Amino acid sequence: MAWVGDSRDSEKRAVARFADIRRFPEIDSTNRYLIDEARDGAPEGVVAVADAQTAGRGRLGRTWSAPPGSSLLVSILVRPSIDLARAHLVTMAAGVAACEAVFVVADFAPSLKWPNDLVVGGRKLAGMLSEAEVGDGRLDALVVGIGINVNWDEFPDEIAATATACNVEAGRPVDRDALLHTLLHRFDAQYATLLGADGPAAVLAAYRQRCATLGREVRVEVAHGSFTGTALDVTETGHLLVRVTGDADEVREVSVGDVIHLRS
Ligand code: BTN
Repeated sequence: MAWVGDSRDSEKRAVARFADIRRFPEIDSTNRYLIDEARDGAPEGVVAVADAQTAGRGRLGRTWSAPPGSSLLVSILVRPSIDLARAHLVTMAAGVAACEAVFVVADFAPSLKWPNDLVVGGRKLAGMLSEAEVGDGRLDALVVGIGINVNWDEFPDEIAATATACNVEAGRPVDRDALLHTLLHRFDAQYATLLGADGPAAVLAAYRQRCATLGREVRVEVAHGSFTGTALDVTETGHLLVRVTGDADEVREVSVGDVIHLRS
């Protein structure tokens, strides 16, 4: 699938909602930057993109590192009129958009691993971390942070067996800026859908279609231990439903945790 000259040329143009793109050669964390901007009253739609982060944030208090220039490191500020309990759906919409963008620009189709990793053949291509600003129990702002491995020469030993990158899967270098613009277009569309009448159902359907976790045997690691089971579905609030191994009647709802795919 060509990037230049095909029907997707329109995706190289700026997206009105996300026209304020702030670029940084180096920053501590694009998420940290946009959370601070949100607290200072920045409007919906500001985008922060960095070539390198010195204190990139990952899920569950982890760090996120990538060699300078190797990755798309982007955060997007939104202020959706949505119940706080449904904020996960915004991240899920971004996960679907990221899968679509990779497919359009790099010609391969990643899957989603719950909650929002992009994976290819069991290897992690991208991770997402959303951080919320909440006031009076209401969602005031959400910063959706996405790190996509785009052009990696080699992986450090710790992640060599579990990570992949767009250039590895595509067999050629992949254009980071094309990926950014396509991601913003696709997220704009998913986000508009989410805020529409049947939005949550539509976004969930798109998410379920791409989610490699559903139907799988999984190990779930939560704060106080782990258990195995079969992943059944995601709820309207983005939680994972897992039938516990050895007890057909017990279905647990997981809101936060890590999932390991065991067998297909
Ligand atoms: C994960 O742990 O899988 C989530 C990683 C999210 C990393 C991205 S990179 C851009 C944005 N800024 C951050 O500090 N983190 C997110």
